[in-house]
Amino acid sequence: MENPASKFEQSARAISRMMGIIFAMFMVVGGFLVYLMIDPTLSAFSPEPEALVVVTPPEEDDFDKIENGIHLRTGFVEGEGLMTVVNNCTNCHSAKLVTQNRMNAEGWRSTIKWMQETQNLWDLGKNEDIIVAYLATYYAPGEKGRRQNLENIQWYALEE
Ligand code: HEC
Repeated sequence: MENPASKFEQSARAISRMMGIIFAMFMVVGGFLVYLMIDPTLSAFSPEPEALVVVTPPEEDDFDKIENGIHLRTGFVEGEGLMTVVNNCTNCHSAKLVTQNRMNAEGWRSTIKWMQETQNLWDLGKNEDIIVAYLATYYAPGEKGRRQNLENIQWYALEE
């Protein structure tokens, strides 16, 4: 004759085994989900190495490219002292603030002085003469700041 207590014990053991299996499954699935949060693309298991992203700095030639007599990056006219102006006059404000102005040497010098006194512009040293000469030449009052003439235009006939 069977002992009812041992039957109870058996089913208790079965239940606890089932709970153990369910718990283990939860742990596996849960662990996988946590892993998915860390590595959603499963990249650790992907056989191919991740593509290298090579960042090449802009080539020097491109960075300060001059086309049709215009320094493309800033819009300054090509001329002696161009790079000195680019390096000293485009740090705080756009080059446009400079190129939209027309002054003689005296005017440019006093604008520079004003910036030095009120806007923390540094002492330009010998470069000041280079800069003033450039500006007074290419951004003088007579110069209207017209754009350069168009070149290599392909005209087309207007149709009625
Ligand atoms: C240290 C910062 C700094 C540098 C470098 C600098 N500027 Fe300025 N400049 C300023 C500030 C600030 C203003 C005022 C901007 C505004 O009004 O919004 C200004 C204004 C100007 C103006 C307009 C003045 C006006 O009356 O409206 C001109 C022109 C100018 N700068 C030319 C130059 C030139 C040429 C150089 C190179 C020598 C130069 N800046 C370099 C800070 C600077």
